[in-house]
Amino acid sequence: MSVSNKPKKVTLNTLSNLKKTGEKFASLTAYDYCEAHAQSSNGVEVILVGDSLGMVVQGHDSSLPVTIEDVAYHVRCVRRGNQGALLMADLPFMSYYSEMKTLENAAVLMRDGAHMVKLEGGAWLAESTRLLSERGIPVCAHMGLTPQSINHLGGYRVQGRDPEKAQAMIDEGLILQDAGASIILLECVPVELGQRITEKLDVPVIGIGAGPHTDGQIMVIQDMLGMFPSKPAKFVKNFLTDSQDGIQGAIRAYAKAVKDGSFPAPEHCYT
Ligand code: KIV
Repeated sequence: MSVSNKPKKVTLNTLSNLKKTGEKFASLTAYDYCEAHAQSSNGVEVILVGDSLGMVVQGHDSSLPVTIEDVAYHVRCVRRGNQGALLMADLPFMSYYSEMKTLENAAVLMRDGAHMVKLEGGAWLAESTRLLSERGIPVCAHMGLTPQSINHLGGYRVQGRDPEKAQAMIDEGLILQDAGASIILLECVPVELGQRITEKLDVPVIGIGAGPHTDGQIMVIQDMLGMFPSKPAKFVKNFLTDSQDGIQGAIRAYAKAVKDGSFPAPEHCYT
């Protein structure tokens, strides 16, 4: 009898159960077949086809030029390599400016193989979140530092440091959860706020620069392999440097460090 080495399929239920039991889960961005194959075979539960592809694949200085066709192309590449991870795809800048556009564009990504879509914003996304989730499209709401609003935010800065803004973020997370969001992603917030939001919400919370208490962690694959030419953000750790087994080993080490709580360490966090 042969025993399959294929990893088990990860679903939203898997992530909810992990949250309940307190087991952390690992997530990375992927943009092609090999990355998706390596990640999903080495312990990564959630793969994101992120609009960070604008920077790390296309070489732009922000994610704003990325189109729905760009994301859809990379979803098709990633889907073929994915061995069972949950595949999340970004709705890029201005692809969800109206409710109709949101539904149409989310449908494109789902038809190409995404299991859920990610949108950036706060309470204003509630109606779109409700429409998507009622029609069978699970939603991840990306809060905190939202790179599509970089011109509004005035730079890649930590969000929610001021107590009123922190409270507003908690309230908006609850509104989005009530509207049907299945996951909240928190980017660049102080450790304490990451912890408070994770404890308040029933849905899994994934963090990037949001401290060690979130239910899952995510990083851009080029960052964790030390490939991106610019100075890395504080929350980035290069896992390739100490790998005895190249990229596959680095991915395994990242997944292990997320699960055993050794990543992110204090030097990767904002206080
Ligand atoms: O596009 C992306 O890669 C992201 C991650 C930074 C979370 O949204």
